[in-house]
Amino acid sequence: MLVWEDDSRTVPTPVPRTAPEQALGSARAAVSSPSVQAPAVTATAALHGEPSAASSVVARSERRVNVAEKRIINGQTDVNQLVPFKYKWAWEKYLATCANHWMPQEVNMSRDIATWKDPNGLTEDERRIIKRNLGFFVTADSLAANNIVLGTYRHITAPEARQFLLRQAFEEAIHTHAYQYIVESLGLDEGEIFNAYHEVASIREKDEFLIPFIDAIMDPNFKTGTLEADQTLLRSIIVFACLMEGLFFYVGFTQILALGRQNKMTGAAEQYQYILRDESMHCNFGIDLINQIKLENPQLWTPEFKAEIRALFEKAVELEYRYAEDTMPRGVLGLNASMFKGYLRYIANRRATQIGLEPLFPNEENPFPWMSEMIDLKKERNFFETRVIEYQSGGALSWD
Ligand SMILES: [Fe+2]
Ligand SMILES: [Fe+2]
Repeated sequence: MLVWEDDSRTVPTPVPRTAPEQALGSARAAVSSPSVQAPAVTATAALHGEPSAASSVVARSERRVNVAEKRIINGQTDVNQLVPFKYKWAWEKYLATCANHWMPQEVNMSRDIATWKDPNGLTEDERRIIKRNLGFFVTADSLAANNIVLGTYRHITAPEARQFLLRQAFEEAIHTHAYQYIVESLGLDEGEIFNAYHEVASIREKDEFLIPFIDAIMDPNFKTGTLEADQTLLRSIIVFACLMEGLFFYVGFTQILALGRQNKMTGAAEQYQYILRDESMHCNFGIDLINQIKLENPQLWTPEFKAEIRALFEKAVELEYRYAEDTMPRGVLGLNASMFKGYLRYIANRRATQIGLEPLFPNEENPFPWMSEMIDLKKERNFFETRVIEYQSGGALSWD
């Protein structure tokens, strides 16, 4: 019999936050402050969502897993038993992400370094785009990783989905590594870049929008199992998959890939292509997860909840557009901020329809068809849309 519980552990009392932490929200405080600990959820409790029912856990552990009883949330089956599979789409996406494995230091940055050091290598507007981009992304993927590891993971009771989340968390670490590697390669001011999410309003506002949804599920006292709590978790997953990974990354990705298309900063652009491929998979997994939770818990999808989600989509489009304006005060690289208004609306429509909402901005066209060559939103495959999933067959970049 496996017993991993340590019943002596208690839920830590939240420590009052300092003013800067409060200004930025506790997702960051939890990351930086040793006094705010990871949720005190025991191993077996995390298995079954019942923190202290040790005896019933033992009784259940002697039963074999009945696949029909598996659930994405509030499941009672043993999450240590990956098989029998119920959620094949989650397992297959896990395999696909593994097939896409890459590491930042495999990308040669020497041309980027020469371009950056050459006073005539880039315009001031291009340099601004790169610094703003890194300013957002160097901390964004840490927020993403912490959200998975300290938040989402413990509330998901399907081991196939947990397997994907473990891989996703590692990929977020690779992404943070990649951004750090670019910052280090170019010799940028680390203090400036890593503090941009405190100091640059257009970046801070995006993070301040996200953090309450991360905090809600990282709270050690948060537990699913009621309508309200399950909606809180579902809302957090939607914000994370559809709005952070599915929308807030796209101005930045487009800008760096536009540089690469002009044969500038090609090392950084290659890193971003790998990251975009990973993020696309994260977003698609999140959307499948959302749709499976909806399927298993239709009571969560109320008219009020849908209206609330639509309002969040609208706010996210507004924030990402503000970020586009701040990063591109003038036209640059054949791009300008107003082109992104249409692009963000187009993406928001796509995300909304993927989770069963009506398009928010009817009849928007994609103003960046070349981005579709990188990753065609129409080619994205979701289990609930087509039941067909396309994979990369190896680590190399391939967009077909
Ligand atoms: Fe990432
Ligand atoms: Fe991600």
